[in-house]
Amino acid sequence: MSSKDQSIHGIWGRWIFILAATGSAVGLGNIWKFPYITGENGGGAFVLVYLLCISLVGIPIMIAEVALGRKGRKSPINSVKEAANEADVAHWWQGIGWMGALAGFFILSFYSVIAGWALAYIPKVAMGTFTGADSAVAESTFGNLLADPLTLLGWHSLFMVLTLTVIARGVNKGLEAAIRILMPLLFILLLVLLGYSLSSDGVAEAANFMFSFDFSKLTGESVLVALGHAFFTLSLGMGAIMAYGAYMPRDASIAKTVMTIGALDTIVALVAGMCIFPIVFANGMEPGAGPGLMFQTLPLAFGQMPMGEVFGTLFFLLVAFAAWSSAISLAEPAVAWAVEKGFNRVKASVAVGVFAWTLGIGTVLSFNLWSGDEYKIFGKTFFDTLDFLTANIMLPLGGMLIAIFVGWKMKKRKVEKELDMASMLPFNIWYAITRLVAPGAVLVVFLKGLGLF
Ligand code: PHE
Repeated sequence: MSSKDQSIHGIWGRWIFILAATGSAVGLGNIWKFPYITGENGGGAFVLVYLLCISLVGIPIMIAEVALGRKGRKSPINSVKEAANEADVAHWWQGIGWMGALAGFFILSFYSVIAGWALAYIPKVAMGTFTGADSAVAESTFGNLLADPLTLLGWHSLFMVLTLTVIARGVNKGLEAAIRILMPLLFILLLVLLGYSLSSDGVAEAANFMFSFDFSKLTGESVLVALGHAFFTLSLGMGAIMAYGAYMPRDASIAKTVMTIGALDTIVALVAGMCIFPIVFANGMEPGAGPGLMFQTLPLAFGQMPMGEVFGTLFFLLVAFAAWSSAISLAEPAVAWAVEKGFNRVKASVAVGVFAWTLGIGTVLSFNLWSGDEYKIFGKTFFDTLDFLTANIMLPLGGMLIAIFVGWKMKKRKVEKELDMASMLPFNIWYAITRLVAPGAVLVVFLKGLGLF
């Protein structure tokens, strides 16, 4: 390895990069958020737009982001800064890195609260709260949890401490071993669950709901939500994947690796949908139930299953782990930057954690004390506002700027060298998409989402 081929934070083996990046991508976005926003946006047509966004916008931008990270071998803020200096562009391009770090804080703050719900469900399911329960019990259990700010705060704090502990020890150390075991387990459990829900009564209705394309249900805002979710679920537009790219070995192919990650992430989201919707329909529940969807339908299914306590406990444990491996990548860009500034990693982790934790209190209160209209911002709670602002504005904007920067501002030769593809054709296709299709799509969706046409 040449001396340039180092990062002060460490380097991963090829497979570790795939696992870590998949660990970042696969999280609450797939298992919790995708099913409920699909429900809220009417199903099939939304899923189709989401798939288009993943393949035409998400994956090309992910390639650009990883390339930028691996080229710089530093925190996103500094990798972008170096590349911007090298390309001799206006100063404000460096803002991509800063906006990303800010988006990371915002997301981490609410992500930790929701991951806390999953933690809270581990003992609940284990102790048999849902054994033989009906949908009324499932709804009231969840409602009672949300109504209790102190309990939410406790689980939020626990999750934040878990996340920080790993970050403080360095991404390589704590994470690698955990991810190797947890990711395959998560896949196996999802398949077991899929097997169960495919044998329930609501399958046909669920498949119809997810895969029949009724475009009359599609509004400008739902297209924006689909695009925003493509960024969220692939961890794009804020530097998480760029930070991980900085630790990727030089001899691994960026394009192939990214396509693997994108495919795995999409499969997990679709499987999660096919686990949840059959149960929703079989129990006469609402697909558009909102953020509580997963916490009300899955416990019902577990309550009916033989050994449901065991499977259910394992499931929520794994959701928490999936969230954990994502949360780490949310904080890494800011922590890596602080370390490059000369702070020690432990102190930097504590600072990032305390800041995100404090902001998370706003999300905790969004479900109880601040749920009233007088606390809403344009009709949205604090949590909804942060979620909308990050997923639907900051991430797509960051991604669009990355695509424009890599596509138009960096020297083509340098980009080509970093991607090192076997032949020119795939490179040229990717390059054209990154220059035109990806930024164009984000712009059009933004304008449409704002209701401008
Ligand atoms: N991709 C993660 C998920 O789907 C969330 C995430 C977003 C992580 C942005 C890092 C950066 O849950």
